[in-house]
Amino acid sequence: MVIAFQLNDGSKKKIPAIAWGNGTGGLSKMGQQTADLGRTVLESGILHLDTAQGYGTEAETGQAVERSGLSRDDVFITSKYVKTKPEDIKRSVQTTIDKLGGPPDLLLIHTPYVPEKGKIGQFWQVLEGLVQDGTLKGTSLGISNFQPEHIEEVMSVAKIKPAAHQLEFHPYLLAQLQPILDLNKQHGIITEAYGPLTPVLRHKGGPLKPILEKIAKKHNVDSAAVLLRWTIQFGVVAVTSSKNEDRIKGFKDVYDFELSEEEMKEIETAGRSVHYRYYDEHMGDGFPTPELPDGGENGKRVPTHLKKDE
Ligand SMILES: NC(=O)c1ccc[n+]([C@@H]2O[C@H](COP(=O)([O-])OP(=O)(O)OC[C@H]3O[C@@H](n4cnc5c(N)ncnc54)[C@H](OP(=O)(O)O)[C@@H]3O)[C@@H](O)[C@H]2O)c1
Repeated sequence: MVIAFQLNDGSKKKIPAIAWGNGTGGLSKMGQQTADLGRTVLESGILHLDTAQGYGTEAETGQAVERSGLSRDDVFITSKYVKTKPEDIKRSVQTTIDKLGGPPDLLLIHTPYVPEKGKIGQFWQVLEGLVQDGTLKGTSLGISNFQPEHIEEVMSVAKIKPAAHQLEFHPYLLAQLQPILDLNKQHGIITEAYGPLTPVLRHKGGPLKPILEKIAKKHNVDSAAVLLRWTIQFGVVAVTSSKNEDRIKGFKDVYDFELSEEEMKEIETAGRSVHYRYYDEHMGDGFPTPELPDGGENGKRVPTHLKKDE
C-alpha cells in the first residue's frame, strides 16, 4: 500500500513517501530515455517524480506524466528553483510551469546559496507572492540543503511555512543532521532524503552493511530495499533513483513489508556510530561534524572533483 505524508500547509495532496529522481546517474543527459523511464516509474506505482531546473529534466518529467496516461492529479511532482536574480524569479518559475505542463506540487529552493547572501527571507516572500497571485496554484513551497540558520531566516518572515526540506539523509548522517531534523520537526516540515542508499552504494565497509544484509534476508528483499523502508518508516520521504527497469519496478515492494521496532533501532544505532557524507558540496562547509560514541568513525569526505556523477 502506497504510503504518503500530509504536508503542513493544508495541501489536499499528500506527498508519496518514495520518489524517483532524474538528477543523478546521467539521467539529466538522457533526454527521451529519461522521459520513458519516468513513465515506467509512474506505471509501476511510484507516483512521485523529483526534478529540478538545474537538472534540465523538467520537460522530460512533464512528458513522463503525459505518456503514462495518468491524471496529473494522481502524480506528485517536485521541482527545485535555481535561478538567482530576484527580478527573474517570476519568469523563471513560469518556465518551470511551461516545461512541466502545469505548476509543480512542490517547489524547493535548491540550496540556501540560490538567493543572494542575507536575502533568503526576501526570496521566500517572492515565492509566497507567486503562490498568492495564483502563478503557483496548488504548489507547496520547500527548501533543500538548508542549515539551521537558513531555516530560521525563512521562518522569521514566512506566512507560508516550508512544507518539505530535502537533504542528503541516511543512517550515517543522523548524528550530524540532528539539529536540522529537530527544527524540521518543530515546524512540521517533512524531511526528504536524497542519497538514501549511500550506506550500501558509496560507503566502503561500515557496520551497517552486515546488519542490512541480515535484515534483508529475513524479509526476502535486498539491502537497498531495507534502507528505503527504514527511511520511510522513519517518517522521511526517500528520493531514490535508478535507470534499471527491474529495479524501478521493484521500488513499490518497499511499501509492502515492515521493519520491526528492533530492526529500526538496530539500523539507527549503527548509523549513529558513523559520520559519512557523500554530497559534500551543498552542506559541507560551516556545518559542524558530530560528536560520535566511543569507537565511532568520522568518515572522510570524498572531494567533489573525484566523484564521477552527480
Ligand atoms: N536536493 C539536492 O541537492 C539533491 C542532490 C542529489 C540528489 N537529489 C535528488 O535525489 C535523487 C536520488 O539521489 P541519489 O541518486 O543519490 O539516490 P540513491 O537512492 O542514494 O542512489 C540511487 C542509485 O542507486 C542505485 N540503485 C537503486 N536501487 C538499487 C538496488 N536495489 N541495488 C543497488 N543499487 C541500486 C541506482 O543505480 P542503477 O541506475 O544502476 O539502478 C542509482 O544510481 C536524484 O536523482 C535527485 O533527483 C537532490
